[in-house]
Amino acid sequence: MSTIQAHGGQLINLYEPSYNYGELTKEIELDNTALSDLELIGIGGYSPITGFLNQADYHSVVEKMKLADGTVWSIPITLAVDEEKASSLSVGEEVKLVQNNVVYGVLTIEEIYEPNKEKEAQLVYQTMELAHPGVRKVFERPNIYIAGPIKLIKRTEKGRFSTYHLDPAETRKVFKQRGWKTIVGFQTRNPVHRAHEYIQKTALEIVDGLLLNPLVGETKSDDIPADIRMESYEVLLENYYPHDRTFLAVFPAAMRYAGPREAIFHALVRKNYGCTHFIVGRDHAGVGDYYGTYDAQKIFNHFTPDELGITPLFFEHSFYCEKCEGMASTKTCPHSQEHHVILSGTKVREMLRNGEIPPSTFSRKEVIEVLIKGLHKQVLSQK
Ligand code: ADX
Repeated sequence: MSTIQAHGGQLINLYEPSYNYGELTKEIELDNTALSDLELIGIGGYSPITGFLNQADYHSVVEKMKLADGTVWSIPITLAVDEEKASSLSVGEEVKLVQNNVVYGVLTIEEIYEPNKEKEAQLVYQTMELAHPGVRKVFERPNIYIAGPIKLIKRTEKGRFSTYHLDPAETRKVFKQRGWKTIVGFQTRNPVHRAHEYIQKTALEIVDGLLLNPLVGETKSDDIPADIRMESYEVLLENYYPHDRTFLAVFPAAMRYAGPREAIFHALVRKNYGCTHFIVGRDHAGVGDYYGTYDAQKIFNHFTPDELGITPLFFEHSFYCEKCEGMASTKTCPHSQEHHVILSGTKVREMLRNGEIPPSTFSRKEVIEVLIKGLHKQVLSQK
């Protein structure tokens, strides 16, 4: 039984731990986003991409959501340096990619170019407001982009939850071993609440397995930290999910908060991890009210099923309805909103920080206990 083809046809592997970079003198310092991008390129998470985007690919991705060769790709993967650094580099040379004096990779410089950040912000994020965390990041980064193919030399430290760090080749192997032909991927940057659980399990009714694939790269500071979330996923799966049909593995990318554009990106990357289906619910990867509730679903209409190669599963806004006495969505519940248990992320975070317990119709109690304990510990360690 073969697994689904990687995006572009071939799963990329650029991990070369014994590559000799000893002679290289020049280096580029990576921020956390670039470091996670380097690793994801290297392990094939971003197949067919083999390096930081050149000008032709960058403009094509920004304008058309496609690489220059026509392959769908919706988020520019770029490496930024300041003018001074750029002037010390030349096309054709090989440089080390480092963070805090640790060499994680090398890049052969193919191009040095000035991006059009206004266009990038407007087309990718649909706004130029610096209040948007993704846009702020684009403008905070230095102003010259360096393009070229990479080699991944060192993997990042995985810490306490290292067993959940699987590369695309490894998740594919797991799915194969388990005999799953159809696998639905679920992206989240939050604890899993009852609405998430409802849409996951609804999807699980029609596929063989669920990959719970929380994003653990950089997120904005008021999102719940990944290590606290990881523990909450463990207790949730342990207590409420069929073990032989669920698999937990992390997605090490940084969050862009690019809403619709990021939904496409999230789906394509999950295809590389071996998923055949991908869940897109309400305001996927959104932030504030920059995007319409279902914009991240509508954007899939721009592409043919063949171009995407992974089947999106769309879900309406879901909640517990006190009249229905069960989980439902705007598609299945006839009752008005006053009967629905809906809590905003901000409200829940505030409740948790105050040690208040949201109702069991909103979240499983085991999850809440872990979150309160984790946040409490975090506050104590910051004192
Ligand atoms: S995201 O930034 O990672 O998308 P989040 O963790 O909140 O944020 O969402 C994970 C997935 O669940 C996304 O596909 C999102 O659209 C979906 N989702 C979140 N809350 C709901 C809800 N109440 N009803 C339906 N889908 C939801």
